[in-house]
Formats: sequence, structure tokens, C-alpha cells
Amino acid sequence: MARPIAAKITGIAGYLPPRVLSNADLEKIVETTDAWIRERTGISERHLVDKGVATSDLAVAAARQLLQQTGTAAEEIDLIVTATVTPDMMFPATSCLIQKKLGASRAWGFDLSAACSGFLYALTVGAQFAGAGTHRKVLVIGSDVMSSIIDYKDRNTCVLFGDGAGAALVEPAAAGELGILDFHHDIDGSGAEFLFMPGGGSLHPATHETVNANMHVVHQAGSNVFKYAVRRMAEVACQLLQQNGFSSRDLALVVPHQANLRIIQAMQERLGFDDSKVMINIDRYGNTTAGTIPLGLRDAVAQGRLRKGDLVMLVSVGAGFTTGGMLLRWAY
Ligand SMILES: CC(C)(COP(=O)(O)OP(=O)(O)OC[C@H]1O[C@@H](n2cnc3c(N)ncnc32)[C@H](O)[C@@H]1OP(=O)(O)O)[C@@H](O)C(=O)NCCC(=O)NCCS
Repeated sequence: MARPIAAKITGIAGYLPPRVLSNADLEKIVETTDAWIRERTGISERHLVDKGVATSDLAVAAARQLLQQTGTAAEEIDLIVTATVTPDMMFPATSCLIQKKLGASRAWGFDLSAACSGFLYALTVGAQFAGAGTHRKVLVIGSDVMSSIIDYKDRNTCVLFGDGAGAALVEPAAAGELGILDFHHDIDGSGAEFLFMPGGGSLHPATHETVNANMHVVHQAGSNVFKYAVRRMAEVACQLLQQNGFSSRDLALVVPHQANLRIIQAMQERLGFDDSKVMINIDRYGNTTAGTIPLGLRDAVAQGRLRKGDLVMLVSVGAGFTTGGMLLRWAY
């Protein structure tokens, strides 16, 4: 059954820190090659923060652009929902830090943790408040500084991730207006053992031992994650199209989470989308976790690949496992 939300995205923006780490740079750090990384992942380069730059800084840079683009004053924001797995600190919530830096004096907010599906989950939650009519302007952010939890000695993970943030403005949609048509999200906790960071939480608080045991970095069983992502991204995209009476021909654009080009291509093959309908920017940004989907939307708008009325699919799989999918009519 379709689950429309009476809300629409009215602006999208993103931010990448200026420093670039190329595959050639990585060749000097771990035993890898530019050719391996490009062939197996589709990534050529990624952006990384300088020391002292945190998730809230990237989020605020994206949000400032969004406010400027949409002619919105910070004080007009009612709610901030931030998706991240790399909060500035365990607490307070990164949304509180963003609220202060942005001067969004009227907003309340909170963080949400769903890894690479984070932005889609945050968008769904934020849109419910706009759709209910209780909140007029909702700021939905996906921001991650993955470089803060990556082991740059582990070639299995360090080549994959980059830092970045995206932000969307979500507002109520009037009856019959363009907006969010449907979503499907599910979680499968049996996937927790394949992608996780063991240290720093209540189970293994930081100690000298946890640091020595390398527990404060991403641990991943890449091929398990790969297989799950290929299967679930295709299934969710297919299910959303079917239950809304659409076929892949009706879609103007799919903006998938950017974890690995081969995951995206496998989904594409299963569903029969041609290249022109799939947003790819993993080559330049790597996997920015909660940042990938809003950055994909931002780039699609900038490249003229998204127009008012277009049918758009957003789809992701992340640690958890978390799966997310959303179907929307682009509203501006
Ligand atoms: C991590 C990933 C790129 C590995 O690619 P793969 O083609 O599956 O490669 P494998 O895991 O089979 O490893 C093959 C070999 O390449 C090696 N390898 C791994 N990373 C390498 C690198 N950066 N450079 C060179 N060789 C590398 C492995 O050590 C392995 O060598 P071995 O056979 O001697 O042990 C891939 O599994 C992947 O993208 N998984 C999903 C990751 C993901 O999406 N994470 C985020 C979730 S949202």
C-alpha cells in the first residue's frame, strides 16, 4: 500500500571539504592501486576534512547554502533532523550544535542513526512533521566525517569513504501538490556483525585496551555487505514501483546511495534502468554515508537532470542492516 506524505522537498544543497584524497595518494598509504580502486569500487577521489573540522561544520556549510538558495531565514526553521554516524560528540546531539551555529533560534531537533540510510530515514521523519502541518520548515541533514572513524592502515575500508554533507528543506504540500508519494524502510539486525564500530559505546567504552585493539574504527565484511546491498536495493526499488503502478520507464532519475559503483550497476541491471536515469557521483566523493543521497540530488539539480514533476526514486542500504527507499515527484 502506498504511503504518501503531504510534504515536499523545496531546496537541496551540499558541502564537501576542499581537501581531496586521490587514489594515487592512497597508493602511498596502503598497498593498493588506482586501477584496483577504480575497477572494484568506481571511486577516483574523495574529500576529507582537515583536523578540527567536525560533522556539524559540514552540516552548517550545507545548511547555509540551502537557506540562501531558498531565501529562508535561519529563524524560520522549525525542526532540524540530522542523520549521522559520526556525531561531533556522543552528546549533545549534533542537531543542537547545528542549531546554535546556524542561529536557528526557534528550532528543536534531534539526531538519527541509520548509517547510509540515515538521510532517507531523516527525510521520512522530518516530512511527517511537515505533512502533519505542525511544522512549516524542516531542515533535514545527512552529514558524516567518515575519516574520523576510518583506519587508514586498512585497505579494505579506507579507499571507500569520504567526508561530506547534504541538506534538504522540507515543507508541507497542499492536497494534489507534488511531493513524497511513498516510502519503504526496513531493518535487519542480523546484519549488525558485518559493518560496525565496536568501541566507544556503552558495550565497549573507550579504554587503552579498546584503542590498542583498534575498536574505534569501521569494521566491515565487505562481500556480505555487497551481496545484501545488491539484493535489497533492487527489491525495494522494484516494490516501490510496483505498488504505485509505475514501471522503470516512468522514472526520470534514480538517486542511489553511493557505496560501490558495482552495487549500483547490479541494481540497475536487475531493474533495467539505462545509465541516463541513474545518478552517479561516487567517482568524485566516495561513500559519504548519510551525505550521498542529498549530494546526489544536489548534483542532479545542478546538472539539469531533475525537473519539476519528475518521478524520482531514492534508495539505500546501510549498516544495521538498514534499507530505505522513497518515491517522489520533484516539486520545484
Ligand atoms: C570492499 C569491497 C570494495 C571489496 O571488493 P571485492 O571485489 O568484494 O573484493 P574482495 O573483498 O573479494 O577482496 C578481493 C581481494 O582484494 C583485496 N583488497 C581489498 N581492498 C583492496 C584495495 N584497496 N586494494 C587492493 N586490494 C584490495 C582483498 O584483500 C582481497 O585479497 P585476498 O583475496 O588476497 O584476500 C566490496 O566488497 C564492497 O564494496 N563491499 C560493500 C561495501 C559497502 O558498501 N560498504 C558501505 C555500506 S553502505
